[in-house]
Amino acid sequence: MNVLVIGGAGYIGSHVARFFADRGLKVDVLDNLSTGTRENLFSDCGFFEEDILNYRAIVAIMQRGYDAVVHLAAAKAAGESMIRPEKYAIQNLTGTISILNAACEAKIPRLVFSSSAAIYGEPKYLPIDEAHPKDPANFYGFTKLEIERCLEWYDRLKGLKFAALRYFNAAGYDPEGRVHGLERNPANLVPVIMEVAVGLRPHLEVFGTDYSTPDGSGVRDYIHVTDLAEAHYAALMHLVEEPGSFAVNLGSERGLSVLEILDTARRITGRPIPAVMTGRRPGDPAKLVASSAAAKKLLGWEAKYSDAETIIATSWRAYAQHFAHERERP
Ligand code: UD1
Repeated sequence: MNVLVIGGAGYIGSHVARFFADRGLKVDVLDNLSTGTRENLFSDCGFFEEDILNYRAIVAIMQRGYDAVVHLAAAKAAGESMIRPEKYAIQNLTGTISILNAACEAKIPRLVFSSSAAIYGEPKYLPIDEAHPKDPANFYGFTKLEIERCLEWYDRLKGLKFAALRYFNAAGYDPEGRVHGLERNPANLVPVIMEVAVGLRPHLEVFGTDYSTPDGSGVRDYIHVTDLAEAHYAALMHLVEEPGSFAVNLGSERGLSVLEILDTARRITGRPIPAVMTGRRPGDPAKLVASSAAAKKLLGWEAKYSDAETIIATSWRAYAQHFAHERERP
C-alpha cells in the first residue's frame, strides 16, 4: 500500500512514517520543513519538500498514485493561535482545503486526519467521549473542528473517506530511539521539561497550583506518540477494510498532573529541573481526560506506552542523545 504522509518530518508525523514503514507500507513524506526537520526523515521513505498551499505541486505529487493520505501538517500552539489567528487560518484551514481538493483531483480514496481534543473546549464532564459538546476555547481548536466538518461534506459530496483522530496530549519518543529531531521552541510541557533538564532553559514554569486537582496543578491525558502511530495504522486499515468514515479520541484514559510529570522527570533524568510556580495560563482547563472506548471498540486499539515513566524515559533518551556533549561535561 502506498501512503503519502503530509507533515511526516514533524514530531508525530515522523513516528507515523516510521511505524508504517516498519509494517511494510510504502511511505512518502511531504513536508515544507517549516517545523519538521531533515533529521526526522528515514532512508526507506521517499521525501518531497513542498508546501501544502502550493496546490498544483501537491496535485502533481499525489498523482503519482497513493492509496491514502495521512495529514498531520498544521500549526499547533493553542496560545499562539489566539494572538495570530491568521497564521492558523492559512496553514490549518486553507492548507487542509488544498489537500482535500488535491486528494479528490488525484482520486485518492481515503485520508487520516490529525484532529485534537482542543475541539471540545472546557470540559462539561469527564472522561470526554466523542459525544461531548464541541466548543473550542482557542482558535487552534476551532480550525480542527471546522476541518472535521469539511471532511464530513467531502465524504458526502466527493466520496473521500476519512478517519479524524482526536489526540489528547501527545508526548514521548520512539522507544527504539530512531527518531532524533527535537521540536524547536516547544510550548508543550514534556519538551519544555526536557529543555530544562539539558540546560537550555533555566526552569520550568508551572502554570497554576490552585486548580481543584489532587496536587493543585493541571491534569492532562498524555498519550505516547508511538501509541498514536499505532492508532493511525489501525485507522488506515479500518478505512481500507470497512466502508465508513469515523472520528475517535486517542488518549490513555489516565490523568497525570504537571507535578507528577515533573517528579517523574527529576527521578528518571537525575537532573534537578528547577521549577517556578506561576499563575494559570489563560484558557487552560483544570483537567482533561479522554474516554478512548470508541477507538478500542472500532480499531481494537489501546495505549501501551503512555505511562509517565515510558513517556519521560523515551523523551529523555532523545534529548540526552542530542545534547550528549553537554551531558558529558563535568
Ligand atoms: C494544547 C491543546 C491540545 C493540543 C496541544 C498541542 C487545548 C485545551 N489543548 O494542550 O489540544 O494538541 O496544546 O500543542 O487547547 N504547562 C506548564 N508549564 C509549561 C507548559 C505547560 O505548567 O511550560 C502545563 C499546562 O498548564 C497544562 C499541561 O502542562 O496543564 C499541558 O500543557 P501543554 O503541553 O501546553 O498542552 P495543552 O495546553 O494541554
